Amino acid sequence: MNTLLVLASEGAKNLSIFDPASPSAESIRNLSMLVLAICGVIFVIVEGVLCYCLLNFGRSSEKGMEPPQVYGSKPIEIAWTAAPALIVFILVLVTTRALWEVETDPPKPQSDDNALFVTVVGRQWWWEYTYEIYDGKKLGFTTSNELHIPVGQKDKKRPVHLALKSADVCHSFWVPRLAGKTDCIPGRTNYVYLQPSQPGLFLGQCAEYCGAQHANMMIRVVAEPVDEFEKWLAHEQDIAVDDPQVAQGKGAFLSQSCVNCHRVRGTSAVGTFGPDLTHLMSRKTLASGMTANSPETLRGWVTDPQKVKPSCLMPAFGLTDHDRDQLIDYLLTLK
Ligand code: CUA
Repeated sequence: MNTLLVLASEGAKNLSIFDPASPSAESIRNLSMLVLAICGVIFVIVEGVLCYCLLNFGRSSEKGMEPPQVYGSKPIEIAWTAAPALIVFILVLVTTRALWEVETDPPKPQSDDNALFVTVVGRQWWWEYTYEIYDGKKLGFTTSNELHIPVGQKDKKRPVHLALKSADVCHSFWVPRLAGKTDCIPGRTNYVYLQPSQPGLFLGQCAEYCGAQHANMMIRVVAEPVDEFEKWLAHEQDIAVDDPQVAQGKGAFLSQSCVNCHRVRGTSAVGTFGPDLTHLMSRKTLASGMTANSPETLRGWVTDPQKVKPSCLMPAFGLTDHDRDQLIDYLLTLK
C-alpha cells in the first residue's frame, strides 16, 4: 500500500546508480567510481600515517619529555601543495568530461532520427508526460506517472529527449539507472536524455523537496522493445472507447466537478489540472506510484483521496454510494 512496500517489492536495487542502463547514467557511475577510488587511496594514506605516528611517536613513558620539535621542510611543503593541486586538476578534467557526456542539448527533431521527445511537467504531486514527437511524427497526447519509452538496438538507437518543466514549485526528475538528477524549475526548461540499453521497469523519485507529498512522487519508466512500445503508443493515442453499458457512470462523471481537472479524450471532459484519464486503467499504479491500480484502490481513491495522499489537490466529493459505483464502473472502462 505505501511507497516503501511498492519499492521493496520491486527491488530497491532498481534505484542504484551503480547499475546503470543508459549512457549518461554510465558516465555518472564511472565518475563516481573514480572519485571514490581517489578518495579511498587518500583516506588509506592519511589514516596510515596517523596510525603510524600514534604508534611510534606517542607520549613516551618518560613523563614530561617532549619529542624533538621540527620546524619547516621545503620538500614536504612542496609535496603537500603539488599533490592536492594535481588531484583537483584530475577531478576537474574527469568531471568536465562527464558533464559533457551527460548534458547534451536536445537535437532538432528529424524524420529519420528515431528519437522520442516528451515534455515532463512536475506537479504537486505527480508527473505529467506529453508525448510530442516520435520518429519525426507529431503526437501530442498526455499521460501521467508512467513513462513508456522504446529500447533501441546498437545499429538503430532510440534516444529519448525529455524537456523538464514545473507547473508549481521546484521538483527534480531522477531515475538513477537511466540519468542524473535534473531539476524541474518553474519558468525554465531543462533537458535530459535517456537511452535504455535493456527493457525493463526503471524506478525513480522526485529528488527536490516539494511539499507534504514529496516522498510520494515516484517515477516509473517502462522501457520496452520497439514493437511493444509502438503498440502502446498507438493505443494511447486513441480516444476513450465509448461503452454504452456505463453510460450512466459516464453521465455522472461528466456532470460532476471531475471535468474541471481531468480530461478524457473523446468526451467533454477537458480539464488539465489533474492527470489525463483517457487510458487510466492502462496504468499499473495510482497516485504517482503509491498504490497498485485496481478496482478496490480506485474506489478508495475516489471515495477519499485525502486519506490516501493527504494534502493532494483532489478533494473527496461526497458522492452517494450509487453514483460512486456507477462512476467507478465508467472509470474501469478507460483502458
Ligand atoms: Cu516533487 Cu519533490
